[in-house]
Amino acid sequence: MALHDTGMAAPMIVVDALRKSLYTGSTLVEILKGINFSVTPGEFVAIMGASGSGKSTLLGLLAGLDNPTSGSVSLHGTVISSLPEDKLAAIRGRTVGFVFQSYQLIPTLTALENVLLPYELNDEKGDRQAGLRRSRQLLEAVGLSRRFDHYPVQLSGGEQQRVALARAFILRPPIVLADEPTGNLDSANGKQVLDLLLQLNRAEGTTLVLVTHDPELAAYATRRITLRDGLVVGDDQQTPRIADAQ
Ligand SMILES: Nc1ncnc2c1ncn2[C@@H]1O[C@H](COP(=O)(O)OP(=O)(O)OP(=O)(O)O)[C@@H](O)[C@H]1O
Ligand SMILES: [Mg+2]
Repeated sequence: MALHDTGMAAPMIVVDALRKSLYTGSTLVEILKGINFSVTPGEFVAIMGASGSGKSTLLGLLAGLDNPTSGSVSLHGTVISSLPEDKLAAIRGRTVGFVFQSYQLIPTLTALENVLLPYELNDEKGDRQAGLRRSRQLLEAVGLSRRFDHYPVQLSGGEQQRVALARAFILRPPIVLADEPTGNLDSANGKQVLDLLLQLNRAEGTTLVLVTHDPELAAYATRRITLRDGLVVGDDQQTPRIADAQ
């Protein structure tokens, strides 16, 4: 099913006629009403739109964390929407890194153990020493070389999100999805997390989809997709603002 023979032109993400509806009581709520777009390797897409427009629902479907009502999502040439849970979990683990607004670290694991966890859960894992080396390198890259053994409660919000960034990149996923990753942080910490996300993204050559309310953050993207009431109402390439030199 992989699209290797089409070479560079193969899209990394294809969203086709994607719909999501849910019943709340007896009322059918149409959250996504037919979304279409594709993302090429290396693109950095900002998804914008008012609260309730369907951004998080869309990102959850892209990550395979949720099933569409109809339509499909393909990641890296594989249609994930119809896969059984075990196959989906394996593909998700290899293909997608996810960063949440609320960090979602495991409280009983140290920073280093949190970053290593996806590596240890991965079927195709290499040896533990290699995983530990990569975890340490990533924590160093996000400025946490002195926080390896801290538990999440011993870290500030910005530090926790930097651990979560390192975790998202541990398996070298071709795609990273981030839902308001700076939404719980003050502007200085938010800017630092965004800068680090962009640095990791460039260093690893990742395709990045970032949900944000913030036009300042969206300015760093190469493309901006705007949702309104479950539909795409804007899809524009843009010249990205260049992140500050570190
Ligand atoms: N499990 C659910 N049951 C019913 N309605 C839901 C459910 N999840 C989301 N919705 C509704 O779907 C719409 C889109 O929600 P979603 O969380 O995707 O919005 P969003 O664009 O991410 O908003 P925000 O910017 O506030 O995070 C909202 O109106 C929400 O109330
Ligand atoms: Mg949301």
